[in-house]
Amino acid sequence: MKIRKAVFPVAGLGTRFIPATKAMAKEMLPVVDKPIIQYAVEEAFAAGIEQIIFVTGRGKKALEDHFDKSFEIEHALKEKEKEDLLKQIQELVPRTGTIVYTRQHEPLGLGHAIWCARDIVGDEPFAVLLADDLIQTDKPVLSEMVNKFDRLRASIVAVMEVEKSQTDKYGILNAQMVEEDIVKINDMVEKPKPDEAPSNLAIIGRYILTPKIFDILGKKEKGANNEIQLTDAMKSLLKEQPIYGYKFNGQRFDCGDKVGFQMANLAFALERPEMRDRLIKFIKEIQKDF
Ligand code: G1P
Repeated sequence: MKIRKAVFPVAGLGTRFIPATKAMAKEMLPVVDKPIIQYAVEEAFAAGIEQIIFVTGRGKKALEDHFDKSFEIEHALKEKEKEDLLKQIQELVPRTGTIVYTRQHEPLGLGHAIWCARDIVGDEPFAVLLADDLIQTDKPVLSEMVNKFDRLRASIVAVMEVEKSQTDKYGILNAQMVEEDIVKINDMVEKPKPDEAPSNLAIIGRYILTPKIFDILGKKEKGANNEIQLTDAMKSLLKEQPIYGYKFNGQRFDCGDKVGFQMANLAFALERPEMRDRLIKFIKEIQKDF
């Protein structure tokens, strides 16, 4: 079955970026000149996704406006004959009806946010993208996962090795290698302390899940941080269905973290020929003071 729908949990308050996020959605923070959310949405469309489901909350209006037509800007760009920019902002608006919004009324956890999309997803496998996880790679991660899903016919999550001291920030796996870039998951735990973690193999924010997960999430059992965790639901799903991990190639940035966000900006800016030389010159200059 084709993966047609992708859920984007975007209700988070972004408290780590206050004051920037006082009146603005954290997903709208730009990496170079593009909001974080747009990278993930482009990745989803490139993977053949036909419907984007945003699970939003209060204060996310800018996010909805970003993917909507802007008559004022289009008009101004037409007048100024800025055809390139005009084309860019027109292409940003997906075909009418492609984006669906629903709300998570209370911050009860990632698992709960996904559960909020159950009726829109229905009875078919679907993708989940956490926009905070920005991945620089030649092989867009979700496209690779869709291909792997076609072959394995089972849920699959993106995984990478993290520093052992960092395990309490992630869902951590007990898994075994079954192919060059695929692990089969035996067990998983959300945010374990380093000395309790089964490994240093962490879940990164790309998932393809079977709809069975909604039945489990519907039980609303709370886990780490007293939240309804997606990892806990996947752990239960493991009793009935296999789940695989895809070890992607590429550099992942945690844009939910201030340092990770700065690193992402630098890495993506260095990819731009028009910015690269000046930035390298600047880095070399300030490096002398380190
Ligand atoms: C979430 C998931 C966690 C995963 C992480 C990846 O945690 O709960 O399992 O490893 O995303 O970024 P959060 O970052 O929302 O605390």
